[in-house]
Amino acid sequence: LHPGGADKVLLAAGGALEPFWALYAVHSQPHVLELLQEYKVGELSPEEAPPSPNTAQDPFAGDPPRHPGLRVNSLKPFNAEPPAELLAERFLTPNELFFTRNHLPVPSVDPSSYRLQVEGPGGHTLSLSLSELRSRFPKHEVTATLQCAGNRRSEMSRVRPVKGLPWDIGAISTARWGGARLRDVLLHAGFGEHREGEWHVCFEGLDVDVGGAPYGASIPYSRAVSPVADVLLAYEMNGKELPRDHGFPVRVVVPGVVGARSVNVKWLRRVAVSPAESPSHWQQNDYKGFCPSVDWDTVNYRTAPAIQELPVQSAITQPQAGAAVPPGELTIKGYAWSGGGREVVRVDVSLDGGRTWRAADLAGEQPALGRAWAWVLWELRAPVDAGAELEIICKAVDASYNVQPDTVAPIWNLRGVLSNAWHRVRVTVSR
Ligand code: MTE
Repeated sequence: LHPGGADKVLLAAGGALEPFWALYAVHSQPHVLELLQEYKVGELSPEEAPPSPNTAQDPFAGDPPRHPGLRVNSLKPFNAEPPAELLAERFLTPNELFFTRNHLPVPSVDPSSYRLQVEGPGGHTLSLSLSELRSRFPKHEVTATLQCAGNRRSEMSRVRPVKGLPWDIGAISTARWGGARLRDVLLHAGFGEHREGEWHVCFEGLDVDVGGAPYGASIPYSRAVSPVADVLLAYEMNGKELPRDHGFPVRVVVPGVVGARSVNVKWLRRVAVSPAESPSHWQQNDYKGFCPSVDWDTVNYRTAPAIQELPVQSAITQPQAGAAVPPGELTIKGYAWSGGGREVVRVDVSLDGGRTWRAADLAGEQPALGRAWAWVLWELRAPVDAGAELEIICKAVDASYNVQPDTVAPIWNLRGVLSNAWHRVRVTVSR
């Protein structure tokens, strides 16, 4: 009887209800509490409190607590996505449910001693405390969707195995980010608006691997200083300080550019203007697309550019694959997004495997021209007949009339990135 459906209630099955309760604060009302009394089975005994973490033995023991509703793809390092049922419920993804992609343990940062280093030829070195970053530069806010290059990788693995975490459709989320513009900080440090030749801005995180190499990546200098690219050194996410999993105290947010390959570097410690791309493993030897025939024996990472802007993408979040839906009117929902600030102008939905199509209703923020950094949520209502077997498909079109490929096989690549074929969900209409 739950208005959100039984699936939502079952997300909490077997665990504590409180984290869901906190997220859906609307439930804290007398009539809901009264209703729930009927289901109370008892109270946890104090001896059942979870054991306290021991950081000496486990480098991940200091990681922050996480929302139990997340679908975990790897616990250490922590990689998790919101379940499809909750993914497109709200235009802004609640911080606790925002997908998380960590390569290493979450650094523990003392905000009072934190410094951000800004350096490179042609400018002066800055060492900014958190309060200096907040007070010296105007706060700028941007609503932007982050998507991992590996989003929907699990669909690629079904064609042929690929290397990487088995992300479903949820390695994508949207937040309102607040922080200083990278442009303002670079200009303040004396780096000019225009630089001769090819320059890059390299970012380094505080998370270092066992060999001492920090997590890092870079973007072209022109994007970093562009007045319309909205690149942020963000310290706020949806009006709150950045959560630890998402880069506390400062991260880079490069709207329209791949979340993965780490251009959106979290726990930022250094910004360096450089004549070369970041030397980081993740920039040079990972997160690139190849021809489907390239395998691990023949791959040459030097031959492909690092992924920056992502291709047009969409997915169905409701109904779920394999669901039995009642006859009558079916509501189909999902998200759509494209890289590089290209607005999604249409989402087409088919209920018969692609034979006929209807355009869905789109909802989102009205973007400035060429700066559509956030996803749109879409919805379509359609009558469905009892006993029908449906293959529901969605595909989005962006402002450049880019479309999604119809099948996965021709875009298969060994790392399982850039998976953006039409999203297909099969459901049965009950009798
Ligand atoms: N930054 C650091 N320092 N370390 C990381 O592991 N992961 C990157 C990027 N920035 C990463 C990082 C990847 S691959 C992605 S997809 C995004 O952060 C995910 O950001 P989120 O965890 O806030 O969703």
